[in-house]
Parts: sequence; structure tokens; C-alpha cells
Amino acid sequence: MNREFLLNDIHQVAADFWRQAGAGTVFAFHGQMGAGKTTFIHALCDTRGVKDAVGSPTFSLVNEYAYEENGQQKKLFHIDLYRLKDEEEAIRAGIEDCLYSGNICLVEWPEKAPGIFPDHSLHVYMDVLDAQRRRLRIGNN
Ligand SMILES: Nc1ncnc2c1ncn2[C@@H]1O[C@H](COP(=O)(O)OP(=O)(O)OP(=O)(O)O)[C@@H](O)[C@H]1O
Ligand SMILES: [Mg+2]
Repeated sequence: MNREFLLNDIHQVAADFWRQAGAGTVFAFHGQMGAGKTTFIHALCDTRGVKDAVGSPTFSLVNEYAYEENGQQKKLFHIDLYRLKDEEEAIRAGIEDCLYSGNICLVEWPEKAPGIFPDHSLHVYMDVLDAQRRRLRIGNN
């Protein structure tokens, strides 16, 4: 996937993202401050059927959300590593446990702890084109 989109179209892009993601569970979102990582992750959560109010993990590194899939309760992690000092701290905070849990993990600022990501992680890149327009690309690194 490599496409430009406006904020208005974000839910359509999120639906397409999930179709393309297949069985992937760990998604690393790269992009500068304000690129739209949190905004897009919220759209991904909405599209996936997360009912709890989706916030930004500003005070905790990890937010856990519930959603239903084929009549089963599942959970999804939204992780923001921005305030991490190093990988050591990520490990102490139990981030690896989330990443290897088999649950969907949507992670901002993966650059803060690149070494803890499983090989099967999908890397997603967001770029600012202008005030309302972003480019989203799913790549392999
Ligand atoms: N097409 C778009 N997609 C996503 N966000 C957009 C788009 N157009 C405008 N925006 C705006 O850009 C801002 C993106 O902020 P957001 O908090 O999502 O960025 P972020 O990448 O998570 O930043 P940070 O690294 O600080 O966590 C929001 O104010 C959002 O409304
Ligand atoms: Mg953010």
C-alpha cells in the first residue's frame, strides 16, 4: 500500500489497511511528530470495532483496547515509545510481552527500541504532504 489521503478519507484508508495487513499483528508506525500516527491508529481502532474511548497513550506507554471478532473478545495494544530512554526501559515496561503476545500491536516511535521488534513486524511510514494530506506506505523496513 502506498497512497495519499485526506483526513476525510482516513476510515476508508484504515479499512484498506486491514485488508492488506492480512494476518499481521505487529505494526511499527514511523513518521515525524504530527505526521498523523495517532490519528491513523485511532481510525484503525474504530474500523476494527474498538468500542472503548480511544485515547493516546500519553501517560502510559501502552493502552489496551477490546474488540470483538467473529464473536470472540480480543484485545489490541496501542503503544507509544516516544518517552522511552532506551531498549532496556522498554523491556522492563513489558513491551516485548505485548509484541510477542499474538495480539495486534500498533506502535508509535519504534525507532526508540528497534531491537525488540519481532521479525514479522510490518513497518508503516507516514509523511506529511500538506496540512490535510498524508502519504502512507507499508514497507519492509
Ligand atoms: N490526512 C491526515 N491524516 C492524519 N492526520 C491528519 C491528516 N490531515 C491532518 N491531520 C492532522 O494532523 C495531526 C496529526 O497528529 P497526530 O497526533 O496523529 O500525530 P502523531 O504522528 O501521532 O504525532 P506524535 O509523534 O507527536 O505522536 C492531527 O491534528 C490531525 O488532525
Ligand atoms: Mg502520536
